[in-house]
Amino acid sequence: MLPGLASMASDPSSSTTLQELSAALHNCQRCKLAKLGRTQVVFGVGNPNAQIMFVGEGPGFYEDKQGEPFVGAAGKLLNELLQSAGLSRSQVYIANVIKCRPPNNRDPEPDEVDTCKPFLLQQIELIKPKVVCTLGRWATETLLGRKVGITKIRGHAVRTEKLTIFPLLHPAAALHQGSLMEPLREDFLKLKAFLDQADRPEPAPPVPSEPQRTQMDLFGS
Ligand code: URA
Repeated sequence: MLPGLASMASDPSSSTTLQELSAALHNCQRCKLAKLGRTQVVFGVGNPNAQIMFVGEGPGFYEDKQGEPFVGAAGKLLNELLQSAGLSRSQVYIANVIKCRPPNNRDPEPDEVDTCKPFLLQQIELIKPKVVCTLGRWATETLLGRKVGITKIRGHAVRTEKLTIFPLLHPAAALHQGSLMEPLREDFLKLKAFLDQADRPEPAPPVPSEPQRTQMDLFGS
């Protein structure tokens, strides 16, 4: 590595591309998850210019092994749901709140979220998506910065100062609790309707009425 590049790679805040940020987090040791059995940092995947970004909670067993978010059972379901919303995996960007697998897939702990959240915010800032779809309560609360009832807020866009957030149920929750499958599918149809509407061209501004003089010109005056 060229002199200087090593120090750049270790300072995530100086990253100006996703690639640089990913390199800066490679082998991250900033929180205790580094020593609790994770295989690798799972940074994120997809289109760096995506207009729509999905944010889950944290890597599970398969994600930890493969280094990519949502590749296990929840990921298969997510792919299907994306399709139902007219989206493909290559079109969107997918990341998680925390980038390392917690032991036995336990919930992320507050210090782990606090450590990792700035990097999620940096990913969002670099990608500049029009909509950030949060998958489940963890991602929604992390990005909104407040407690939410996910079953209440799901399927409704929330506009914050900087972001449009579209909370969805988490695919893993629906795999675990079958009664959530139908609501989850509905969420993605609502997302499709929301995106279709956002995509619709703005109505053209009214054509200003011809100035009087031009009309008179028509008669040669
Ligand atoms: N669940 C998540 O929240 N993220 C993943 O990457 C996989 C499962």
